[in-house]
Amino acid sequence: MTLQAAPKQPADSGKALYGGKGTRRITVHDIAAAKERGEKWPMLTAYDAMTASVFDEAGIPVMLVGDSMGNCHLGYESTVPVTLDEVLILSAAVVRGTRRALVVGDLPFGSYQEGPVQALRSATRLVKEAGVGAVKLEGGERSLPQTEMLVQAGIPVMSHLGLTPQSVNTMGYRVQGRGDEAAHRLLRDAKAAQDAGAFAVVLELVPAELAAEVTRSLHIPTIGIGAGPDTDAQVLVWTDMAGLTGGKVPRFTKQYADLRRTLGDAARAFADDVVGGTFPQEEHTFH
Ligand code: KIV
Repeated sequence: MTLQAAPKQPADSGKALYGGKGTRRITVHDIAAAKERGEKWPMLTAYDAMTASVFDEAGIPVMLVGDSMGNCHLGYESTVPVTLDEVLILSAAVVRGTRRALVVGDLPFGSYQEGPVQALRSATRLVKEAGVGAVKLEGGERSLPQTEMLVQAGIPVMSHLGLTPQSVNTMGYRVQGRGDEAAHRLLRDAKAAQDAGAFAVVLELVPAELAAEVTRSLHIPTIGIGAGPDTDAQVLVWTDMAGLTGGKVPRFTKQYADLRRTLGDAARAFADDVVGGTFPQEEHTFH
């Protein structure tokens, strides 16, 4: 008798970050294990409990309560005006709306640049009051003391390199890391963040070849946004991804739905019913 070979399964399919069977909350250890398995994974931003619960049910393993909330949720022109209190309130909502995702709270401009003690004070509030599992901050070498302090205190840190929107007033919105010197600086920043204990690095708006090189050089995962196909993970701002953002969106975004049109159509249909006297009807009415 010959034994039938079992159907071939990916080695750790049950543990996969996306599509895995686990129900407990994902931790930075799961993220590290995914890099070892060579698994790619998705991250989305989220700013409220209801949207976060939809993404959680869809299996999105990591949600970033990004300071992109400034432009995408709070009506500011950039991320710069966002306050720690605003990030706290929205992070707590996203934590309440999720059961499985690792929720990462963004440290907004002005909440960590003074130094490690300020960073620790701000990050501690996000962990204790909002319940996030990790925080994100911008900068590699320039934010090393902050990263080291947070990691030593037991707070997982996601680093953000390349285009760092909190520096828009000096940096502008353009591709970073072009040219040998800038590329070396980015690689140095990424390694510095890793050496300081960061568990992942966001690479925003950098050439694909450089992002691939950084990804190969690090043992922690890279998360790309406008950084080509070879990073370990990809992140999109959810309102861009779902077509809710009005006006121009960055070229690196892919729109997977047209929520702006869908919501507008729903609002117009409701208004037409009210004006035309066809809502409410008997089934919506109490006697
Ligand atoms: O704030 C944010 O949404 C971000 C992502 C673009 C990575 O930093």
